[in-house]
Amino acid sequence: MMKKNVAVRLEDVTVKYGDAVVLDGVNLSVFENDFLGIIGPNGGGKTTILKVILGLIKPIRGNVLVFGGSPVEKRGMIGYVPQHTHFDREFPATVWDTVMMGRMGGGMFQRFDDEDVRVSREALRTVDALEFKNRQIGSLSGGELQRVMIARALACEPRILLLDEPVASVDRRVESRFYELLVKLNKKMTVVLVSHDIGAVSVYVDKIACVNQKLYYHGDKEITAGALGKTYKCPVELIAHGVPHRVLKMHKRASK
Ligand SMILES: Nc1ncnc2c1ncn2[C@@H]1O[C@H](COP(=O)(O)OP(=O)(O)O)[C@@H](O)[C@H]1O
Ligand SMILES: [Mg+2]
Repeated sequence: MMKKNVAVRLEDVTVKYGDAVVLDGVNLSVFENDFLGIIGPNGGGKTTILKVILGLIKPIRGNVLVFGGSPVEKRGMIGYVPQHTHFDREFPATVWDTVMMGRMGGGMFQRFDDEDVRVSREALRTVDALEFKNRQIGSLSGGELQRVMIARALACEPRILLLDEPVASVDRRVESRFYELLVKLNKKMTVVLVSHDIGAVSVYVDKIACVNQKLYYHGDKEITAGALGKTYKCPVELIAHGVPHRVLKMHKRASK
């Protein structure tokens, strides 16, 4: 087998907000074409990891490499679907406008050219949303909006796609269709999916990282109950191999 290239590497990354340590000495390598699920309880630092990769938060210690460069330098190679999209819904814009905004790497007043149009159409086609490109985003269902947000992230032609809790507000049927879309995208790019819901990610991803201030586990998805229990600080029931795991009790934060 060919040796895989590293897409993202975190080395001994420590992040503080004020006095609170949010990430403590995290080491994590994401390889090209991985489909990685980052799981852990609410407040465990999952969103913070994505912001570190994007260069939005600077660690107080450690190194971050994105495709061999700094996060800020390589930001154009990262597609990002943030956790909360309710702000976008209030915004008076069509689906098409929203996806074209993903092309605005060159600043607010850049003019769009044929290439911008071509890539945006392709992004909408990929997520199966081209037929409603003229609708207002405020009129979309949760699942439709989610696909449009992914199209917007794809419009920068990323090599890695970061998604933060993307299925929090959609129903099960939409959810499985959505994961199938991610599996399809993963054939062409690296995908990192953040979720507090273990069951939601385990069937589709091929690797799992467990984060609760520290990185407790990083490896294939056949994770043990012990590693999950450590991450969530609570008893965990493992149903079966490859079948969604379930968290029984809600977690506490890792003690400081
Ligand atoms: N901007 C911020 N200022 C201060 N504390 C923050 C900030 N953002 C997040 N935190 C805290 O950092 C911890 C980790 O947050 P986050 O990375 O959002 O966790 P997760 O995404 O796993 O729920 C939480 O305790 C949260 O309250
Ligand atoms: Mg979060």
